[in-house]
Amino acid sequence: MKVDVLLGLQWGDEGKGKIVDVLTPEYDVIARFQGGPNAGHTIKFEGLKFVLHTIPSGIFNPNKTNVIGNGVILDPVIFRKEINQLIKTGVNPKDNLLISRKAHLILPGHRLLDAVYEKAKGRTMIGSTLKGIGPTYTDKVARQGLRIGDIEKQFFLEKYNHLKELQQRIVNTYKVNISNFEIDGLSFNEYEKLWFDSLEILKQFQAIDSEYFINQAIDNNKKVLAEGAQGTMLDIDFGSYPFVTSSNTVSAGVCSGLGVAPSKIGKVFGVFKAYCTRVGNGPFPTELNDETGQMIRETGNEYGATTGRPRRCGWLDLTALKYSIMLNGVTDLIMTKGDVLTGFEKIKVSNGYLSGNQKINHVPYDIEPVLPIYEEIDGWQSPVETIATYDELPDALKDYVNIIEKRTKTPISIISVGPDRSQTIIRS
Ligand code: GDP
Ligand code: IMO
Ligand code: MG
Repeated sequence: MKVDVLLGLQWGDEGKGKIVDVLTPEYDVIARFQGGPNAGHTIKFEGLKFVLHTIPSGIFNPNKTNVIGNGVILDPVIFRKEINQLIKTGVNPKDNLLISRKAHLILPGHRLLDAVYEKAKGRTMIGSTLKGIGPTYTDKVARQGLRIGDIEKQFFLEKYNHLKELQQRIVNTYKVNISNFEIDGLSFNEYEKLWFDSLEILKQFQAIDSEYFINQAIDNNKKVLAEGAQGTMLDIDFGSYPFVTSSNTVSAGVCSGLGVAPSKIGKVFGVFKAYCTRVGNGPFPTELNDETGQMIRETGNEYGATTGRPRRCGWLDLTALKYSIMLNGVTDLIMTKGDVLTGFEKIKVSNGYLSGNQKINHVPYDIEPVLPIYEEIDGWQSPVETIATYDELPDALKDYVNIIEKRTKTPISIISVGPDRSQTIIRS
């Protein structure tokens, strides 16, 4: 068996969590391969709503194994909160959640540094979720991070204190008053205490060599789904740098984030919204700073699952979508939130940009000054939230799907028409 991949093709929040939850019955193992608690993956079913940050979105399906891969970074405090939330609703993740020994830990100092770096950037700030993502991946690459497998080692505390001292020294060079910086409403010392308490919960979970686990699953004909976080346009290499996250969100990240060889990658499911959103700063050619953008935000409830920030909204950008399809080798597209566009008389789709006077059909190095070239498509007026088959969808929505398939040369095999698990149309 090969590993299938599901990831976001835009700027994150495409609805990955919902779709992973829908597809989980088809799989034996669900594995996150990158990112950390900057992710917020929403899952709704039977009137319940959950937002997962670190734990894979297969966790609500009993008898499925969920793996936090080596490419993920984990904050014990946030992890503990997620676990408690799950336990409250009757899910016992201790039975089916495994964590890679090689996954790195987000330390309180990483969160502090994230806040200090952002503040120092002033007007050029990234709009980070401030979960310590950048500083933790920096320490991983600098070969001085702490990993899950280190927790039980004798040197753990010594290494922690050494790293904390280094972090304090960096903070001091910024000449900021640390007492002005809180982490989730707590002082550094309070958060650090909570962090060490939370390590005790983390220790109760099974730490594994996940690269062996995943490859053995492949050899034993088990079906594995790799779950991405963020989106391709936030990838550290291919996103709108520096307004990106600090990991490889593209399908190549599965190889390094789970220890899977390229030849073992099977289907690549690329999730996109029927329009675009972005939270945080950075270029967004099709952004709508007008009533239409506002309408999409309200109808689509476009507020961040992790930070609650309003998401910037705009029309679908096919140039960016085609770029993402190319980078990931997408075999199947999955379109979410088509229901949100119901009621628009006309819907716009951008295919190509104007760079100065020149028409271009690629994502340029400097995406900031380009203007979108739009084509206008008829909208649909009747609600789609309760529709269960493709044939029953309004003709205009089917036309929208056909246009996207034609322009991207990629089939759309799943259409999501609402946030609930049940509001999903599977075409093939
Ligand atoms: P993720 O980070 O990619 O998992 O996406 P988020 O959970 O951050 O954001 C997607 C939001 O859209 C969540 O509130 C979902 O409940 C919701 N959602 C997912 N699919 C659909 C859909 O087809 N229609 C509507 N209206 N909402 C959806
Ligand atoms: P999911 O998995 C949307 C954005 C932040 C910021 C930039 C860098 O839910 O789709 P970071 O915290 O990584 O330093 O932030 O990336 N960002 C996301 N936007 N969805 C996410 O995850 C995101 N994770 C990070 O808003 O612009
Ligand atoms: Mg999200």
